[in-house]
Amino acid sequence: MNAALRAVIRTALTMQIEIVGISHGYKGLITGQYRPLGSTSVSNIVQRGGTILKSARSEQFRTASGRVLAYQSMEAAGIEGLIVIGGDGSFTGANLFSKEHGVPVVGVPATIDNDLMGTDYTIGYDTALNTATEAIDKIRDTADAHERLFLVEVMGRNSGFIALETGIASGAELILLPEQVTEVEEARANLKGILKEHRRSSLVVVAEGDETGGALKLAEQLQDDFREYEMRVCILGHIQRGGAPSARDRVLASRLGAEAVKQLQEGNSRVMVGIVNGQMKVTPIEEAISGRKPIDFDLIELYKILR
Ligand code: F6P
Repeated sequence: MNAALRAVIRTALTMQIEIVGISHGYKGLITGQYRPLGSTSVSNIVQRGGTILKSARSEQFRTASGRVLAYQSMEAAGIEGLIVIGGDGSFTGANLFSKEHGVPVVGVPATIDNDLMGTDYTIGYDTALNTATEAIDKIRDTADAHERLFLVEVMGRNSGFIALETGIASGAELILLPEQVTEVEEARANLKGILKEHRRSSLVVVAEGDETGGALKLAEQLQDDFREYEMRVCILGHIQRGGAPSARDRVLASRLGAEAVKQLQEGNSRVMVGIVNGQMKVTPIEEAISGRKPIDFDLIELYKILR
């Protein structure tokens, strides 16, 4: 997000557009937490995770009256348009706000879940993928040395992008995804088959949104059948959301941040900028947050061949 912010500021400056940073997201919009941002205020942040602006969830902004307050606040500050860096929730709010008050908004997709339509990748996804893969590689050493069965849970909310790609990258024996219903029975049979074949250890990547209810619940149901493998559960959690962004994420964020300014200046609103097949693409926010972004089912077939 910092790389996107930096790109927004520096691109806007070349167009003589004044930019004000809003701290704590919509909460800060309502309470007027504005700060002018110049070129040097975003120096040295491209390599930092998180956001120097801070983020927050705002219950108030979910209400129509909260959004009226936000509008009054930004009008009083002379702010003419918004660039919203975020995911599904931020965009839903931005869309409503723009419809109700006529405020121009452009979205920059940033979520580790990669669950927005209109872009192949969202900012943060690649970093999360690399963090999770690195962590799983380390877990694999214990699994291998102690000949154990590990269930590793990764984030992604209702999407299985992180699970599927970390699963492939780390050579997982089984990947459980929300996009593909796997009954516990099926998981049990699969694992038994895999372990019987030739292995003394195994690694299962479980998406947090999987139907089985996540790694802990799955472990409870499987433990009796796999006692000899000393099953262990590891929930990777929030380490996936932080750390220095990958180079790929920094470049993506830089491109999207710059494009967002151009879109706003051209008078476009309620759109999200994204990159599809290497090309910049502008998608109505409504479309970006509608429906479930499909995973690549060919990758499921691939991991089954490679495991
Ligand atoms: O949407 C991003 C995400 O990291 C999800 O993958 C995860 O389920 C959720 O946010 C965690 O949110 P919180 O930090 O509020 O627990």
